[in-house]
Amino acid sequence: MTAPSPSAAGLRFLRPDIAAMRGYTPGEQVADCIKLNTNECAWPPSQRVFAALHGIGEAQLRKYPDPRARHLREVAAATYGVRADQVLAGNGSDDCLTILYRSLLGPGDRAACPWPTYGLYDDLAAIQGVAIEHVDWAKDWQLPSVLPRLGAKLVLLANPNNPSGTVVPVAELRRLADALDGILVVDEAYVDFCPGGSILPHLDAHPNLIVLRTFSKSYSLAGARLGLLFAAAPLVDAFMKVKDSYNVNVLTQLAGTAALEDQDHHRDLLRRTLAERARLERELARLGWTWPPSGANFLLCEVGSKAGDIYRGLKDRGLLVRWWDRPGLDSKLRITVGTPEQTDLLLKHLQELA
Ligand SMILES: Cc1ncc(COP(=O)(O)O)c(C=O)c1O
Repeated sequence: MTAPSPSAAGLRFLRPDIAAMRGYTPGEQVADCIKLNTNECAWPPSQRVFAALHGIGEAQLRKYPDPRARHLREVAAATYGVRADQVLAGNGSDDCLTILYRSLLGPGDRAACPWPTYGLYDDLAAIQGVAIEHVDWAKDWQLPSVLPRLGAKLVLLANPNNPSGTVVPVAELRRLADALDGILVVDEAYVDFCPGGSILPHLDAHPNLIVLRTFSKSYSLAGARLGLLFAAAPLVDAFMKVKDSYNVNVLTQLAGTAALEDQDHHRDLLRRTLAERARLERELARLGWTWPPSGANFLLCEVGSKAGDIYRGLKDRGLLVRWWDRPGLDSKLRITVGTPEQTDLLLKHLQELA
């Protein structure tokens, strides 16, 4: 047996549950590969974002940023038709999730979510030391009816869902919020790709509803890390106590505000993505592949037993898509909508591999 390395001596002080955790695995990043594996936007952010970053002043960098990101929240509130006291900004929506878990879940509490979904919901529960119950989606990725009866304090639902891209109608989500004796989190990371799919216009009607949005997908700002949490003002106020004081840095506050102020560009990004998604669907159908209807900027393709081989073959050719070596998902590939040139390349390689 080899002796433990001296640098590992501190590990015995680690919480046993953290030591036992596997930890969230972010999507691969391989130099020079085309990334169709993490649902980033294929086109650049607004020029106004670059202008705002160029225009940054010395004092803005020297001093701490506004801890409450007031201006950004005001612009977001005007954009989304809510009040600024119903908005909290986070270092990505992952940070918003961390804040709400830390605020709402303590020893003995339980969370629940339909499964499969965004894996981070699990890791955050593990870090918080709470149990999270997985409930299989009903047939064709429909909402499981059991959710309100599980006794969970927190129910999480990505809508559109990741990895399926499927959408639960707003009316059903509203019924779930009404039926729950707990908080419903609707994670709308992809909802901009699904017109009419947002529950946000109904925020005032549901005091137990939290809605999450991200700038990582439809605003093409994944690198800037910015997310928004929308909830009733008293909840947002409580979350302010839990977040890191300066959780959104000054560059990101400026970038996010500029992106929100250029809705023409945002609409253009959505138009391009939806047009290319439609083309990708037409082309992949020729291969005989199927996928559930997607309201997102990706497709979860049913590929069969060759899925792993195709994933590896594409990677060897410099193209990353997402594949999970896990029962239930191992016959599928999740493919992010890319630019027309990236789609051309993907299709060319698939001719050889599929
Ligand atoms: C459903 C869902 N929620 C949240 C996120 C993370 O968003 P952010 O980059 O804002 O942390 C992702 C990223 O893939 C996602 O798929």
